[in-house]
Amino acid sequence: MDAVQMLKDDHQKVKGLFKKFEKAEGREQKQIAEQVFQELEVHSKIEEEIFYPAVKRKADEEGKELVAEAVEEHHVIDVLIKEMKAMRSIDEQYKAKFTVLQENVEHHVEEEEGEMFPDAKKLLGDDIEKLAERMDKRKQELMAAVS
Ligand SMILES: [Fe+2]
Repeated sequence: MDAVQMLKDDHQKVKGLFKKFEKAEGREQKQIAEQVFQELEVHSKIEEEIFYPAVKRKADEEGKELVAEAVEEHHVIDVLIKEMKAMRSIDEQYKAKFTVLQENVEHHVEEEEGEMFPDAKKLLGDDIEKLAERMDKRKQELMAAVS
């Protein structure tokens, strides 16, 4: 198992859910949105608790900045999710927030896959497998806690 590949798989999954949301309607849309929130919450936690600190430890100044930026992007994503969770119906405002969430996630994914992950792979070297094991374990825990 490879920590970077694990995170990329999460990204793919969320991208797929965003596509599904566009085609869905009503109750199904809300279910998909909730799935998106859960995936993103677990993914962000794993990155912030395990992956980012491991990268940060070995990164240069620029790499540390990338990590700090990613954390702030997670924060924005978190705020949007909290606001949407507090909304009862899928109205115009909800859909607008969901679109902004999608744009933020897409940007975040582009930066990670384009800049952070290639560097991380080099920096982490053989540690990447141990890291993946820890991340996977934590993911199972978090998934069990929310479901
Ligand atoms: Fe990510």
